[in-house]
Amino acid sequence: MGFFDLIKKRVSVRKFEAKPVPQETIDKLTYAINRAPSAGNLQSYSVLTVKTLPLKKKLAKACFSQGFVEKAPILMVFFADCARAEQRYNERGEFYAVQDATIAASYAQLAAVELGIASCWIGAFDEKAIQKIANAQDFFKPVAVLAIGFSAEKPKQSVRRQPKEIFFAETEGAQQAFPDFGKKQKNT
Ligand SMILES: Cc1cc2nc3c(=O)[nH]c(=O)nc-3n(C[C@H](O)[C@H](O)[C@H](O)COP(=O)(O)O)c2cc1C
Repeated sequence: MGFFDLIKKRVSVRKFEAKPVPQETIDKLTYAINRAPSAGNLQSYSVLTVKTLPLKKKLAKACFSQGFVEKAPILMVFFADCARAEQRYNERGEFYAVQDATIAASYAQLAAVELGIASCWIGAFDEKAIQKIANAQDFFKPVAVLAIGFSAEKPKQSVRRQPKEIFFAETEGAQQAFPDFGKKQKNT
């Protein structure tokens, strides 16, 4: 699939078929995740893949009991490995680790579409509860839970903001987005 068709096709799916995702598909997903860029190529993240119901139920509860979570055939929990990044980048490490994990999860969402499966990003969760379930230490910061499986719904594309609200040309845009910034520039 062409890239622009793929991003058009990707929507958040919250209803999944009960059928399991083949291991070959999961392997391709993990390949895509592993190709994501990362700060210093450290890949400062870990991913926990969960398929069994008891653990999915616990994770669903930690996601503030969002109903669809436990029904997804697979949950992938993306943790930023802050300690790994901090070894090289000190206090900047956490920032990089969170970005590494976030990019990795984005790769997973896009790869899922190419592989004929669907996903939903879950960011509303109790961090401590997720860490406890995963037996993860404090420096493993959960960044995203992805619910993954074959879609059992066809959600419409969600509406986006107008590009003119988001994208700005250099000088004019900087002043529009940050009016005080423009003033300070003039005064110094
Ligand atoms: C950081 C982040 C957190 C999100 N958290 C949740 C969540 O907790 N539960 C949920 O159902 N969807 C969640 N979503 C999915 C968004 O609701 C969804 O991406 C958005 O409405 C746009 O729809 P689309 O993905 O279909 O384009 C989250 C998405 C992101 C990127």
